[in-house]
Amino acid sequence: MANAIKTIGILTSGGDAPGMNAAIRAVVRTALARGLNVKGIMRGYAGLLKEEIIDMDSRSVSDIIQRGGTILYTARCEEFRTEEGQRKGAEICKKHGIDGLVVIGGDGSFNGACKLSNLGINTIGIPGTIDLDIACTEYTIGFDTAVNTAMEAIDKVRDTSTSHERCSIIEVMGRSAGYIALWCGIANGAEDILLPERYDGDEQGLINRIIEHRKRGKSHHIIINAEGVGHSTSMAKRIEAATGIETRATILGHMQRGGRPTCKDRVYASIMGAKAVDLLCEGKSNRVVGYKHGDYVDFDINEALAMQKDVSEYQYEISKILVR
Ligand code: ADP
Ligand code: F6P
Repeated sequence: MANAIKTIGILTSGGDAPGMNAAIRAVVRTALARGLNVKGIMRGYAGLLKEEIIDMDSRSVSDIIQRGGTILYTARCEEFRTEEGQRKGAEICKKHGIDGLVVIGGDGSFNGACKLSNLGINTIGIPGTIDLDIACTEYTIGFDTAVNTAMEAIDKVRDTSTSHERCSIIEVMGRSAGYIALWCGIANGAEDILLPERYDGDEQGLINRIIEHRKRGKSHHIIINAEGVGHSTSMAKRIEAATGIETRATILGHMQRGGRPTCKDRVYASIMGAKAVDLLCEGKSNRVVGYKHGDYVDFDINEALAMQKDVSEYQYEISKILVR
């Protein structure tokens, strides 16, 4: 198919994720290699509406593949949720000659990308979120780095928890998705994992398990609690009062979202960035790049957004067996 695209715009939107810079670099350099111009849009859709648009060349993305965060900055933008905001965004793209747009972000950002696509801007989404909560893909940029960061931090808390024979509640990110909690729960050998998708609020059951484990000679009890369940500090106080076992809460917070991306995040993000450009060159629009069954694939954004995802029941059950 003829290459109708002349200028590609790129933006990052929603929560940042380690590996976004690798994707930006891949988009810029692949586009240049295909003979296209590239414009960076700062601060997501907010920057688009403010026309914060810069020309990018190969040197604009030097020395960033190893850095967390996003050199384009990111933001959330209420105005872009409105039809007026979306029309204005499309007009600004046209004014700057942007006829293809790559949006790196989560489902919310893809909703915005879909709107721009309907308004005549060829748009491709790349999944970027540490939460892994995008249904059409088994990989999202930043999850691998975030779980490794959290895993290392939890190992450290575990050392002191064991020395003091305490119970520790460690809260990891994931407002509505428990993937970080589940993976860390398995990787760190946690006695309990509280997931927004599964936790039924049975705190007495949790307390009974802590007492039971102590009777069986366990010197600590690690609970990985997802942000979406929350209340770690008050839960720790109630557990200590009910069990007599000293209990501490640690909220890992935003340290999980920063740091040097892992090899996996650098490589997958790079391939996805290149693929997004090549899809635009093939004349495609309203697609989202994914990774399924060992391959990089792409889906219609509307179909991708309609897909459902849940944590694996099998993995959740196994995580319980492994700490008996
Ligand atoms: P994520 O992309 O990580 O899911 P958000 O849900 O915060 O993050 O969405 C990022 C931005 O995408 C929002 O601030 C908004 O500008 C835009 N957005 C979200 N939902 C829509 C929507 N339904 N229509 C248009 N734009 C949207
Ligand atoms: O990036 C995803 C995420 O980390 C969620 O798990 C979390 O709830 C949210 O972002 C918090 O984002 P912020 O602090 O930027 O509002």
